[in-house]
Amino acid sequence: MAIDKVNTDAIIKEFSTQFGKTPDHIFFCPGRVNLIGEHIDYNGGKVMPCAISLGTWLAVSKNNNKLLRFSSLNFPEKADFHLQDSYSRTGKEWFNYPLGVINEIVQTGDHISGLDMLYYGNLPIGAGLSSSASIEVVTGFALSKLFAIKIPGKELALMGKKAENEFIGVNSGIMDQFAVVMGKKDKAILLNCDTLEYEYLPFDTGDHILAIINSNKERKLADSKYNERFAECGKALKALKKELKVDNLCDISLSDFEEHRHLINDPVLDKRALHVISENFRVGEARDALKINDLVSFGKEMYASHQSLKDWYEVSGKELDTIVEFCRTYDECIGARMTGAGFGGCAIALVKKDKFDDFSSKLVIYYQGKIGYECDVFASDIGDGVRELK
Ligand code: GLA
Repeated sequence: MAIDKVNTDAIIKEFSTQFGKTPDHIFFCPGRVNLIGEHIDYNGGKVMPCAISLGTWLAVSKNNNKLLRFSSLNFPEKADFHLQDSYSRTGKEWFNYPLGVINEIVQTGDHISGLDMLYYGNLPIGAGLSSSASIEVVTGFALSKLFAIKIPGKELALMGKKAENEFIGVNSGIMDQFAVVMGKKDKAILLNCDTLEYEYLPFDTGDHILAIINSNKERKLADSKYNERFAECGKALKALKKELKVDNLCDISLSDFEEHRHLINDPVLDKRALHVISENFRVGEARDALKINDLVSFGKEMYASHQSLKDWYEVSGKELDTIVEFCRTYDECIGARMTGAGFGGCAIALVKKDKFDDFSSKLVIYYQGKIGYECDVFASDIGDGVRELK
């Protein structure tokens, strides 16, 4: 699905209806999929996300009313805030995500004027494709352009993360915001989440397609479970630090872990650490495979990653497992895994291009039979990061 003119035209029309003028600017920020390296960004690991072509649009104009006016084509709630030196979260509504970023910007002393803002997103909300990073980053990027505030890419990503951690209250890592800022067409980003060093890897799927499968499972309690995993990793690290001089779980090799895992002395924390350390190792294997365009080996790492997220990290669930279970039986699917935080949301799969329609229809039937409702399957493009459209 490309960024089509229909979306942009519809947004301009709605903006005019709501604010009585056409928007001065339109910005777009994509969502992302993570190819491999799950739940290790907040453990100083390496991850491999890419930006996709679905995302969030922001139509915006300055106003002279000293008001931040938020509205959305996706949600009925609107909000007006008077310009202030700082803002606090007002509830669970969507506009808290952009407001958290604006709060970051004004806290650093940058002056802004009132703004009329209309958001529209075609990412499934809360489905693990980073709809929240997308709305955060599009807001930060727009303000940097509108008020000539220099915010380099990494800073913009960190600003989104801070808003998510402190304003929204989820202890997420840097991966999502980084991916949607730095994404590049047909490239995967290999990001070291400890140092923020990164490189682009060619993601040439050849005669395969990257499919995104939305389980349509609501991610209830996902934020609290996420924070629980974050805390468990902290405890496992603390135990291992008794003998190992490391800053992060991902600084530990598999062999050092084997030698010292007895220190953890808690079966749940042991499983969490095993996932994190082995997942970081798998990212290295996956990178090596991509570098020689060995998609079959890459796909095997995807399956192994899913198994570890299911058995050791316990963030999958019967819906995502059912999708991956089907993929394993489908000969022309060479790899699949859940992507993002889990607890519902999306899976990704590498499927032979000419079998995509057959794969999709059979998967939907299989899933419906086991789960009782349908999953959505679509082909994904790997796109560029945040940008101005108009
Ligand atoms: C969410 C978080 C990311 C990352 C993934 C799991 O998407 O926002 O920081 O931890 O989960 O890999």
